[in-house]
Amino acid sequence: MKSAQSVDGIGFNVVLIEPEIPPNTGNVGRLCLATGSTLHLVQPLGFSLDDRQLKRAGLDYWGEVDLKLWSSFAELQQAQKESARFFFLTTKTSRPYYEAKFQPGDFLVFGRETKGLPESLLAEQAESCVTIPMQGGRSLNLATAVAIVLFEGMRQQA
Ligand SMILES: C[S@@+](CC[C@H](N)C(=O)[O-])C[C@H]1O[C@@H](n2cnc3c(N)ncnc32)[C@H](O)[C@@H]1O
Repeated sequence: MKSAQSVDGIGFNVVLIEPEIPPNTGNVGRLCLATGSTLHLVQPLGFSLDDRQLKRAGLDYWGEVDLKLWSSFAELQQAQKESARFFFLTTKTSRPYYEAKFQPGDFLVFGRETKGLPESLLAEQAESCVTIPMQGGRSLNLATAVAIVLFEGMRQQA
């Protein structure tokens, strides 16, 4: 695993804040690998990084995921360049994700499975919040939400 540092690479930066369910994070790891993206995990995690379910969901690829661990979201933000762009995925806004113009290197930030992103963060970042419109239900599975937005970001670069 690489130590925490700023990110210059191609692809996107997927941020999971305090993820709780190992198979979700494993699946997101696969998505990151498939898109040349970096996976950032903000602690505390609801599981150990040695969890079998995490590795099973990530299949044999888990070891190849470009993974960075942070002790807080503030620490992650402070380590980035001022020009870094952040998008916050939430059901609590009306701006659809496909109206955003994503650029390689953007940070796509997702919340906890049970609680979503903290209200304080959503209030602070209201201008940068986007949603995946739904016809019903309260929210999508975390890994599904990541897949939709990450591949929209890829599509926009094609
Ligand atoms: C299972 S959801 C969290 C549900 C939580 N009860 C809530 O109300 O936010 C986990 C994360 O997936 C993302 N997510 C799920 N559905 C979404 C949607 N329709 N639009 C945007 N983000 C979504 C968000 O980042 C959310 O924090």
